[in-house]
Amino acid sequence: MKIEYQISLKERHTFHCNNIAEYFITVDEISEIQEVVEFANSKNLPLIPIGDGANFLFTTEIVKAVFIKIDKKDILIGDNNYVKAYSGVDWDFFVSFTLDNLLYGLENLSGIPGTVGASVVQNIGAYGVEVAQFVQEVEAFDISLNKFVVLDKNSLNFAYRDSIFKKNRGNFIVTSVTYSLSNSPKTVLTYRALLDFIGDSRDIHPKKIREAVLQIRDSKLPNHKNIGNAGSFFKNPEVDVAFFESLKDLYPDIPFFLSGDLYKIPAAWLIEKSGWRGFKDGSFGVHQKHALILVNYGESKGSDIYNLANKIIDSVKEKFGITLQPEVEIV
Ligand code: EPU
Repeated sequence: MKIEYQISLKERHTFHCNNIAEYFITVDEISEIQEVVEFANSKNLPLIPIGDGANFLFTTEIVKAVFIKIDKKDILIGDNNYVKAYSGVDWDFFVSFTLDNLLYGLENLSGIPGTVGASVVQNIGAYGVEVAQFVQEVEAFDISLNKFVVLDKNSLNFAYRDSIFKKNRGNFIVTSVTYSLSNSPKTVLTYRALLDFIGDSRDIHPKKIREAVLQIRDSKLPNHKNIGNAGSFFKNPEVDVAFFESLKDLYPDIPFFLSGDLYKIPAAWLIEKSGWRGFKDGSFGVHQKHALILVNYGESKGSDIYNLANKIIDSVKEKFGITLQPEVEIV
């Protein structure tokens, strides 16, 4: 285990702001977790599990917490197309690994920054697929029970960008995820932009889907290595049919996706229509190619981005009567 004190988070989260972590502890062995929990207790500091920091915004200069990063990166292929990966495995490496081993299902989730551990916290989703569809079980350390637990897929409370881990932030440290994949390709081409990109969808191999997804992402989402960002900053809001109809009367071109009985409206569209797309103030702003991506062009502070997010929430609320909810975890 490696314990670092007052260390910069700039290269440890994808917004790349210069916040300082009070403590940052990297563990390779799962058995070391209990010691880290005790360490945080002894310092009276909250424990924050972090992977690649692809979904965090830190608003204070010094983050008074003990960060714990699980660096175990093993992948084990089991029977029945089960694959177990430890939390530290890079997500996109994992997707590519499964395809190379003729295990299919995760291809639409190619190119998402972050780790295996984070994939279940966030229930990552893209291009018509959510990781929840493939999760069999999760191993984690449960802080309130003070022991390691195995959580079956039915107890994970997965929903749109939500899970038991997100609802009970601070209580679980995910150590590994077991996915149930398929040995025969079953492609999902329900997402319009993906289908349009691919064109003829007959006999399309999952590896081709991966390539298409990587290209689409590359064309509209900034790479955090060049421009700091955390992907979609807000969730896409869901509204009921009556509210949707009232908006449609005012904005006949409003895009939407059906989500059960509700209408999911792209937050990017609401933000763009509120005039924010391409907004820039010094080193922070809203990405020119995608209005849902708040960006750090260089030296902006987490608090600058947080203030911008609040201004966006206010103006979307004023124009559309919808309160956007952050998707990014704000600390
Ligand atoms: N749009 C605009 N302006 C923009 C960008 C998009 O009006 O600047 C509108 C367009 O009508 C477009 C629609 O928004 O058709 C949807 O845009 P996009 O296909 O890019 O998807 P999204 O709803 O903005 C969601 C996820 C992404 C995921 C994509 C693809 C959320 C919060 N975001 O974005 O996930 O990659 O779909 O499936 O659900 C992430 O979670 O970090 C993330 C990037």
